[in-house]
Amino acid sequence: AIDLTGRHFLKELDFTPEEFRGLVGLAAELKAARKTGTEEQRLRGRNIALIFEKTSTRTRCAFEVAAAQQGAHTTYLDPAGSQIGHKESVRDTARVLGRMYDAIEYRGSGQETVEELAAHAGVPVYNGLTDQWHPTQMLADVLTMTEHSDKPLTGIAYAYLGDARNNMGNSYLVTGALLGMDVRIAAPRSLWPEESVIAEARALAERTGARVTLTEKIEEGVLGADFVATDVWVSMGEPKEVWEERIELLRPYAVTMDVLRATGNPDVRFLHCLPAFHDLGTAVGREIHQRYGLESLEVTDEVFESEHSVVFDEAENRMHTIKAVMVATLAGA
Ligand code: CP
Ligand code: NVA
Repeated sequence: AIDLTGRHFLKELDFTPEEFRGLVGLAAELKAARKTGTEEQRLRGRNIALIFEKTSTRTRCAFEVAAAQQGAHTTYLDPAGSQIGHKESVRDTARVLGRMYDAIEYRGSGQETVEELAAHAGVPVYNGLTDQWHPTQMLADVLTMTEHSDKPLTGIAYAYLGDARNNMGNSYLVTGALLGMDVRIAAPRSLWPEESVIAEARALAERTGARVTLTEKIEEGVLGADFVATDVWVSMGEPKEVWEERIELLRPYAVTMDVLRATGNPDVRFLHCLPAFHDLGTAVGREIHQRYGLESLEVTDEVFESEHSVVFDEAENRMHTIKAVMVATLAGA
């Protein structure tokens, strides 16, 4: 049982390894209760504010459904519909919402914004993605890895390929280090996480026994991996102009069947936080297809649709893990 009453969740390192694992365990319990129809509502009458300065499908829906299933209410503040940052400071917003709500979720660019909210809200604040971290996603990924592996967490190896300088690259690196896992980043050096993040991960690894590898070589990164993960090559908030350069740099790091074979593990699983450019049938995808003549970007459709892919379990687990965060911080164990 895990009691994190009153705590914020702004980045993975807000929690000890025990606390992080405890949240994943609670999520597994809540998921099982949901599936067997034995879920108890522990957030009845609570109110959660959901501030989204960037768009979202999974994170928003996960918070809304998780809250509803637990008896809580949510208010969605969309990217254009609130005063935050434009007409009213983050600090004032925090003090207003903190008087009305039991917790606040925030998605936006600046990590400093979610930290400023947390400093002044007086209620738990959750990071629903910033440019630097995507911590609720990591809970879902770790839950998914435990579900698709017989090994203990410390025996699991995962490799992240692609843009490792973004929120997902940072989060995968520190999460693996925190939990004592075997974490590999395979990316061009210019797209490795910032030196301070790498240093933090290496320092953590010393304490937890994690294995941390950064390499430009795909084979070195993926050999023996239980999971291969990737993410979009251009993140929300980045200018369109970076597409060309990113495609050039990252094309060799696309997750193909050859990459999965290079793990040497016939049971390797594929992870992606989504949305994914596995086919280019969307509006943005069609534009890229026309400009660069590609059929897919960070992952081929073949991999995405293969039996290796566990991306929809991962997406579902956003809901169970976000529920665990709200229950643990608002209703104790
Ligand atoms: N993975 C994820 O955070 O998805 P959304 O952007 O749809 O919330
Ligand atoms: N790196 C991506 C993750 C989306 C969930 C982005 O920030 O757009």
